[in-house]
Amino acid sequence: MKEIVSRKSLLFLFIMTFVLFIMSWFFVLRSTSSSHFFDHKLLPNSKLFSTLDEKLLKHDEVVLKVFLYDLPPEFHFGLLDGKPSGNSVWPDVRTNIPGYPGGLNLQHSIELWLSLDILASEFPQASKARTVIRVRNSSEANIIFVPFFSSLSYNRYSKGSPHVKKSRNKILQEKLVKYLTTQEERKRSGGNDHLILAHHPKSMLDARMKLWPATFILSDFGRYPPNIANVEKDVIAPYKHLINFYVNDNSNFDSRPTLLYFQGAIYRKDGGLARQELFYLLKNEKDMHFSFGSIGKDGIKKAIEGMHASKFYLNIAGDTPSLNRLFDAIASYCGPVIIDDKIELPYEDVIDYSEFCIFVYTSDAIKENFLINFIRVIAKEEW
Ligand SMILES: *[C@@H]1O[C@H](CO)[C@@H](O)[C@H](O)[C@H]1NC(C)=O
Repeated sequence: MKEIVSRKSLLFLFIMTFVLFIMSWFFVLRSTSSSHFFDHKLLPNSKLFSTLDEKLLKHDEVVLKVFLYDLPPEFHFGLLDGKPSGNSVWPDVRTNIPGYPGGLNLQHSIELWLSLDILASEFPQASKARTVIRVRNSSEANIIFVPFFSSLSYNRYSKGSPHVKKSRNKILQEKLVKYLTTQEERKRSGGNDHLILAHHPKSMLDARMKLWPATFILSDFGRYPPNIANVEKDVIAPYKHLINFYVNDNSNFDSRPTLLYFQGAIYRKDGGLARQELFYLLKNEKDMHFSFGSIGKDGIKKAIEGMHASKFYLNIAGDTPSLNRLFDAIASYCGPVIIDDKIELPYEDVIDYSEFCIFVYTSDAIKENFLINFIRVIAKEEW
């Protein structure tokens, strides 16, 4: 156990998480924030965005040069039904930004944002705050970007049909590996200056082993052997939270009736045994809320209501460590109680999560009455 949640620091995280998602590509690529080209409906707070724009201006001298492989559209915007413009494989993002599918897909939409950002950096009206610029000569590039929307490919095309042996997701990965092995850029560097998107934990399942030593953008290291992906060379980017920010939050400690909110599956195979034990320990507590299963269409609304009505959110090992729900809770000012001894959180090196999260060792949490008593005594001021 480290610290007790304070509301001020939760507000800080709330802003930080938002900033981190929206600016993930900034952290990853130090790329432009070319807000003109983005659909502002997808950006919940454009005011904050423009503040960032100003801040980024100061970084203008650290422009990262990115070479973008002209992969055929089937690897990227073709998956979004985006129409290439003229002879280019890319859509003209000044006039046409293909939308990213909603629901759980959005969690991994970093692949779209990064690509748009690189494309947008070329236009004369691109933001002056650019931190990335697309270069056409790969010898001048600092980084070689591989624009395969692998999460979308996994989400949409990983299931084969009875007549087709290989799923389109597998085929695209094979094609990608083949393509890369023939490229001058890859031969020259061996691939260690390549940046590859594999944000969905199950994306790139076939190709990942062949693409080392590229830098991956991942949501966690859970399914990778340490020689293929590790903290030395890769980037952990957060899931985009699904719940909107709790604007005009007039709630307070006393007006949130539920003490502890949990959403998810109770029975998980690996590492999730604590869930069952906690469920049996807590299920009869009257101010505890368990909501089962994953968020469906209706579920998001319920989760919003649930988190807004709760003081704390229970995050137990067993799901993907960086699951969007944790960020949903933060966006709802619902203080995370994390029971996961091995959790890796995005940007841990710059954000001190112990300032606004409570960490409880699994071995403590499953002691009878320990957790509930521990949380009950957290005072209003500390919350
Ligand atoms: C690409 O850049 C390198 C290094 O600056 C240069 O030697 C080469 O001539 C350039 N190639 C083209 C086609 O401009």
